[in-house]
Amino acid sequence: MKNCHKLENWLSWMDELSLNDYVIIDNFLDPNRLEQIQSFFKSHHDAFTKAGVGALTDNIVREDIRGDYTFWLDRKRDSDLNEIWSLIDETIFIYNRYCFLGLSGYEFHLAHYPKGGHYSKHLDQFNNRNNRTISVIIYLNKKWQKGDGGELEIFLKDDTSILVEPIESRCVMFKSAVLPHAVLASNKPRNSLTGWLLNQPSTLGQLFG
Ligand code: OGA
Ligand code: NI
Repeated sequence: MKNCHKLENWLSWMDELSLNDYVIIDNFLDPNRLEQIQSFFKSHHDAFTKAGVGALTDNIVREDIRGDYTFWLDRKRDSDLNEIWSLIDETIFIYNRYCFLGLSGYEFHLAHYPKGGHYSKHLDQFNNRNNRTISVIIYLNKKWQKGDGGELEIFLKDDTSILVEPIESRCVMFKSAVLPHAVLASNKPRNSLTGWLLNQPSTLGQLFG
């Protein structure tokens, strides 16, 4: 495997994740990968659909809970994203090799919040489906500035919270079942690649969202 990140970097990111339940990594994408995902995003903009809440048949649109539009990725169909898939492979390999997480799958979508969109406080788990282990979000917003809103608020175990600005090429990973989080109302369109590393095959089939 052609490694994207140095092992020593991965080891310190994994240390942080195990200590704090989250890690923030700036400049996670090299220029090549960034370009690949940005141009894919642009060319698929018309294919996004309104995101819902809940898995499978429980999936319903609730504008009061989340206001984003998503486009689920498919590795076979979306082979233009080869560099992104290889980065996901590397991430899963490292977690399994050094954290013994036993990850066996993943699901990723592109997400677009129009101006004013938000996502209320939630856990990345569903009542009837709890195989999401690590949440991974990579932001794709050029020149994000204070006042643009759209921060990811992560609620920590000690009842404090942190705000993460969705700046381009920043990656946030956190333990899906542990940390509640929210997206504050965004004053500008806000784009990301968001996914989950799964600890068992997604036997319930494709998730609609
Ligand atoms: C989600 C989510 C956070 C973000 O899609 O479940 O919490 O910062 N996204 O986009
Ligand atoms: Ni979430």
